[in-house]
Amino acid sequence: MNTPREIRKKAILQLEGAGSETSRLDVDLLLEEALDQSAMDILLEPDQKVTKKEMEAFQELLARRIAREPVSQILGKKNFWSLTFRVSSDCLTPRPDSETLIEAALKDIRDRNTALKILDLGTGSGCLLLSLMSELPNSTGVGIDISDKALAVAEYNALKLGFSERCEFILSDWTEQLPLPREFDIILCNPPYISHEERADLAPEVRDYEPHKALFAEDNGYSEYIRLAEVMPKLVKARTSIFLEIGHTQGNRTAEIFKKTGARNIRIIQDLAGRDRCVALKY
Ligand SMILES: C[S@@+](CC[C@H](N)C(=O)[O-])C[C@H]1O[C@@H](n2cnc3c(N)ncnc32)[C@H](O)[C@@H]1O
Repeated sequence: MNTPREIRKKAILQLEGAGSETSRLDVDLLLEEALDQSAMDILLEPDQKVTKKEMEAFQELLARRIAREPVSQILGKKNFWSLTFRVSSDCLTPRPDSETLIEAALKDIRDRNTALKILDLGTGSGCLLLSLMSELPNSTGVGIDISDKALAVAEYNALKLGFSERCEFILSDWTEQLPLPREFDIILCNPPYISHEERADLAPEVRDYEPHKALFAEDNGYSEYIRLAEVMPKLVKARTSIFLEIGHTQGNRTAEIFKKTGARNIRIIQDLAGRDRCVALKY
């Protein structure tokens, strides 16, 4: 008889053998999905009988994970901030580090009921825009992305989370003349910033399953900061606050790039691990 206790033991070993560094968590999440029960319920009844159908469903999910497909893509969802986002191979899976931008933006806002206008450049799943909007009940938002498939995911998330009346999504390159008035109060942007040289060091979950347009940038990872710094002055008004995500070694150079196009009040902000993660600035 198959029981969660035995399945867990075996599957954890299989996943460790495949190179997963989160094998226990992976197995619990896949079991939750296959048995359609919460991890807590499964842990409380480790010797319950698992049916043949449930076992087959679990084996199918496990095989995908052994091939190093990310759990978020297998399950089609990822928690970010206090929300659950739909994700797929068409968009970057939201990273906890990116919550640094939401925290930094919220810290600067005196009254959360103000009708603030938010622009999210490279919106992907929409996680940054929609998470910030979830804290600002009267805000409105625009998300831009070069990928129509990513935008479809963002639109789905906006609808599912109940924000579609307050936001719109535009398919565009951020260096193109955007059909936007210069009236945004907050601009968020998590651009691709991994250099092609770093590609070999990436985990297969990232390198083989996430869209390369969301990951890699030329010029040693700085090309999109350079392009964004050229267009940013055209998008801002006097007190627009801008929050850019950076790789943990990219703070100083990114600050220099934006300083050259007139940025001021530049701050480098750390993530929860104490590593540089965000450059905040104004023009
Ligand atoms: C690192 S992902 C960030 C996604 C999401 N904002 C997040 O934080 O999870 C970068 C996003 O920027 C988009 N992108 C890349 N180059 C772009 C460009 N030139 N113009 C507009 N969007 C671009 C990608 O398609 C991708 O969705």
